[in-house]
Amino acid sequence: MNILVTGGAGFIGSHTCVELLERGHQVVVVDNLCNSKETALRQVEKISGKSIQFHKTDLLDREALDRIFSNESFDSVIHFAGLKAPGESVSKPLAYYQNNLTGTLNLCQVMSHHDVKNLVFSSSATVYGDAAEIPLHESLPVSSSNPINPYGRSKVMIEEILKDQHSADPEWNIALLRYFNPVGAHDSGLIGEDPNGIPINLMPYITQVVIGKLDKLTVFGDDYPTPDGTPLRDYIHVMDLAKGHLAAIDKLTSDPGVVTYNLGAGRGVSVLELVKAFEKVNGVTIPLQVGSRRSGDLPTSYTDTSLARKELHWQAELSIEDICRDAWRWQQQNPHGFS
Ligand code: UD1
Repeated sequence: MNILVTGGAGFIGSHTCVELLERGHQVVVVDNLCNSKETALRQVEKISGKSIQFHKTDLLDREALDRIFSNESFDSVIHFAGLKAPGESVSKPLAYYQNNLTGTLNLCQVMSHHDVKNLVFSSSATVYGDAAEIPLHESLPVSSSNPINPYGRSKVMIEEILKDQHSADPEWNIALLRYFNPVGAHDSGLIGEDPNGIPINLMPYITQVVIGKLDKLTVFGDDYPTPDGTPLRDYIHVMDLAKGHLAAIDKLTSDPGVVTYNLGAGRGVSVLELVKAFEKVNGVTIPLQVGSRRSGDLPTSYTDTSLARKELHWQAELSIEDICRDAWRWQQQNPHGFS
């Protein structure tokens, strides 16, 4: 298939490109590089031995997007592009809604114009908000009052927009993929997570402490109602997540309409468990201090994996140890990220 990947130079996008190329698909990437580097795509080409057609294009530029569609015939689109920092979204709501909503609207309008009607959308487990039931399953109610920040609300709104589009034109097939906590890196060490500035997420923070760029990890609270007092999250290896997208692309060929899947490993791992696993697997010590809770953090978030297993025939295969080993290999081989 010929697949357009928006945001393909980013963390999840680049790993998904590796999988797409390895399964014989052709890949065209559109990315504005606001939070990623073109080097990631060159590394993907190195890993796969295949080439990627790249357009440095912003989804807000609908005419440029239209030109790309005029010159290509796409079977499906995987839409990763979007702003994703929850804290920043609170101080810049307009930028978040403009980028995430308008970008998606432009993309869908151009798709519609060119009769491309298969879409995989990067959503997030954040759409469940503070749900009463754990593990989280796809049939739990989702509304824009669930997430506590504009980033999360933009995900809920886009899910709704895409459902409306399918109602208006049932020929559309759409997979809404709700990610849990993507971590790890390709086992070549050639691509991985390369955040701008000081990382906000746990795994890149850990690897930057261990490489010596940051002093120590602050554990955001150890008084949660969990076994060791630190929050439980569903960390999923980014290569498992990448394979989930391939399963979703396959699913769309069966004409399913709108389908929604949680992509997680289905295990709740605490902050301290992750720290200990990382230390053990990699033979390092992570200096840490316990600080106060971070506003908006939930005690527990992990998924019920049954629907994805049944309908996508997909499940995460890699362990927490694999995740820690691969994240560290990436950081060691690229102490300053992509150059
Ligand atoms: C965060 C976002 C979520 C987003 C996801 C992916 C928040 C509240 N949630 O999820 O909306 O979809 O990233 O980008 O921002 N931790 C520390 N010290 C640190 C960093 C994190 O103790 O320096 C802890 C957190 O308290 C949390 C766990 O590590 O318990 C995981 O944090 P993080 O990696 O930021 O992911 P989430 O908060 O689950």
